[in-house]
Amino acid sequence: MKTYCRRALPLAVVLLMAAGVARLLARVDDPALPDRIILTPIGDPTSAAAVTWRGPLTTRPARAQIAAATAGPEMEKNAKELAATSAPFDAGAAKFSNHSVAFSGLRPETLYAYRVTNGSAWSEWFQFRTAAASPKPFRFLYFGDEQTELASRTPRVIRQALSDTPDARLILHGGDLTNVASSDSEWGQWFAMAGYANASILNLPAIGNHQYEKVAPDSDQRRLTSHWRSQFTLPENGVVGVEESSYTLDYQGVRFVVLNSMERIVEQASWLDMLLTGSPCKWAVVTFHHPIYSGARNRDNADIRAAWKPIFDRHKVDLVLTGHDHVYGRSDPSSGPAEGHTVYVTSVSGTKQYDAGDRKWAARFGQDLQLYQVIGIDGDRLTYEAKTADGDVYDAFEIRKGAGRARFTDRSRGLAPERLRTSK
Ligand SMILES: [Fe+2]
Ligand SMILES: [Fe+2]
Repeated sequence: MKTYCRRALPLAVVLLMAAGVARLLARVDDPALPDRIILTPIGDPTSAAAVTWRGPLTTRPARAQIAAATAGPEMEKNAKELAATSAPFDAGAAKFSNHSVAFSGLRPETLYAYRVTNGSAWSEWFQFRTAAASPKPFRFLYFGDEQTELASRTPRVIRQALSDTPDARLILHGGDLTNVASSDSEWGQWFAMAGYANASILNLPAIGNHQYEKVAPDSDQRRLTSHWRSQFTLPENGVVGVEESSYTLDYQGVRFVVLNSMERIVEQASWLDMLLTGSPCKWAVVTFHHPIYSGARNRDNADIRAAWKPIFDRHKVDLVLTGHDHVYGRSDPSSGPAEGHTVYVTSVSGTKQYDAGDRKWAARFGQDLQLYQVIGIDGDRLTYEAKTADGDVYDAFEIRKGAGRARFTDRSRGLAPERLRTSK
């Protein structure tokens, strides 16, 4: 029988190895590690971005370090350190501190590395690229209502989208990110879905009705959950009273506008009108929760349509991305009830699915689908794809802007037939 020579490891080496493994395991679940780290726009994306994270209640000073990304591991050498703005947060069963830092004075189109700390352990170093100072091709992602099964059936949609679009520069969320506005565990699941990508790609979330909670248990009055403003640091350049749920961002030739479709609808119409008057950007993309055209049974948002659609028409907004109806629908601006300039989309990424209602407005419709959108901007051309959880193209179109009227081309012909729920 063949024998193997076994040489015993010195005891000190064994103990050191055990301590190293224990440290590593402790780090994975270390509650002192920064958690729910998310990158969001703040100011001009060519020179600024914000990061928000949370950790245990602490009096230690939270902070961030940022440096131009390097080829090797020497980021600390030239890192700039910034003190965080911190506030305690009562999440019911547990209390936390939320922290945020606004990075500014960055160079356009530059890859940066940053990390954050609650005052004890540092996060890993994340990387993100600032926007170019002039229009340049880029792609972004859109997710309609994630909302349900955030730890089971919905993450695969987010992961499919991220692996499919590794160059995405923005992630837009159309509201109803979670189902229960103040459920801290749901928010934890929501953050976990995109993981490190949240810290590397600018997120532009819109509120949904499911981000609103009762003011008191027996009250009919609702208010935006306190989770919103404490965990997202967003531009405060919108309408007073709905700060950080109405805001705007210019990114490489696109004016993005995020609206709050729960409150101050008329005030936001005036603001939107002003914002789109004389916009320097070739493209305008607006996102909010309640759709202008509804595709689900017994649903209609007449007040929002009356207030906002005339502004979209007047300023020839190119694309309106919404959710709420838990079906898929996309209009054709060249014909049909939604004829005009704007393409209207309502979509859903999560698992909650509704019965269809009026869908005459939709040139392409679908039910019982989990979808994400990949949208590309390249000079005079906007390309759009709605893709299913398994990565297939379910819908596509293109808009070209030259001299004169924009040209819309439906690219859904030849794709699989519409998926519609058959009556039971
Ligand atoms: Fe909703
Ligand atoms: Fe919803």
